[in-house]
Amino acid sequence: MSVTPIRQPAVDAGALDVERIRADFPILRNVHPHGKTLAFLDNAASSQMPQQVIDRLVRYQTHEHANIHRGVHTLSAIATDAYEGARRSVQRFLNAKEEREIIFTTGCTEGVNLVMHGYGRKFIGAGDEIIITHLEHHSNIVPWQMLCEEKGAKLKVVPIDDRGELLVDDYEKLFTERTKFAALTHVSNALGTVTPIRRLIDIAHSHGVPVLVDGAQAVPHIAVDVQALDCDFYAFSGHKICGPTGSGALYGKAALLEKMQPFKGGGDMILSVTFEKTTYNTIPHKFEAGTPPIAAMIGLGAALDYVSAIGLERIAAHEHALLEYATEQVTALGGVRIIGTAREKAAVLSFYVGDVHPHDVGTLLDEEGVAVRTGHHCAQPVMQRFGVPATARASFAFYNTFAEVDALVAAIRKVQKLFA
Ligand code: ALA
Repeated sequence: MSVTPIRQPAVDAGALDVERIRADFPILRNVHPHGKTLAFLDNAASSQMPQQVIDRLVRYQTHEHANIHRGVHTLSAIATDAYEGARRSVQRFLNAKEEREIIFTTGCTEGVNLVMHGYGRKFIGAGDEIIITHLEHHSNIVPWQMLCEEKGAKLKVVPIDDRGELLVDDYEKLFTERTKFAALTHVSNALGTVTPIRRLIDIAHSHGVPVLVDGAQAVPHIAVDVQALDCDFYAFSGHKICGPTGSGALYGKAALLEKMQPFKGGGDMILSVTFEKTTYNTIPHKFEAGTPPIAAMIGLGAALDYVSAIGLERIAAHEHALLEYATEQVTALGGVRIIGTAREKAAVLSFYVGDVHPHDVGTLLDEEGVAVRTGHHCAQPVMQRFGVPATARASFAFYNTFAEVDALVAAIRKVQKLFA
């Protein structure tokens, strides 16, 4: 069988050639909201997919699809190789020690729920305590609340200051001999705050407490090395890093994954089944019941390879420059309140224009071709902390340009004029 190899992204050493990279993203030239040039600044919600990943999906569906781990026939072997190859891409991307430490999930939310069910329900009991932060997305709050309700455990929350930075001293004081788990974000989706995650993990470990990191907003912007972080679990979604929706991965230290109970029961997660007793498969398969979204995971592998070829350090530098420019320009407008001014931020700008409701801001920006998210960003406690019901949020990716920041600023200026 002869198939066309997937092109690598066109990158040179040094600064990003954004125009060449943009040429990989068909949607950026094919979509014109209200007849305007699209400025897609909603990447924290979901990023766009390059042609290389689309091509990989097409190649899989055209030449390679069959169910995995199940057949001796050639197509099943090809599909299995592609799926397990994607697992190795995730392993490389996170620098996990072993391939079996990578579990495919449908996204970060499923990763957190897997740990809650697999680890939490087994090892956390009445009177035990779980630490989360005030910055968490609902997906790293609600599962732990559900566990606390079921077990009679207690949720403790690390406060943040007016910049949106975690109060690390307060975090340290939350630990008691009843603390059994910490679930902490690496980057806040609503504010962009980058937490001092390595330090937070060290503190938790000094109390013998394992840590799950919600990396959904970190992996597209920061080079993550799970061995260097020494985190116990790390969860992320594929669709925020140029991969398909329905793809994601959970890293877990092998020793912990071995001790955990399965999350879902079904095919592929077993070694043997009788009506009297079932024995479970080895990790990671113990946690991957049923036919997974095979194509989505292969797409995830392709997306991580694509992003890695560009380089997270260069991506971070470009996005940081975009964020600095946007912050400066939006501040210069006057009358715009920036929510979240942490000293270390990923490429997120949350703001409030005068007293205009963010939904009106978002609608008017859309009329100018500028796509931002408005709402509480699935982080209502963050909104409550800043006394706002919602914000408008621009979030940048490596394919965004300074001209798109200018389009955002011009559109905000129009909103201000309209509501003056
Ligand atoms: N969690 C996604 C966001 O921040 C959907 O927009």
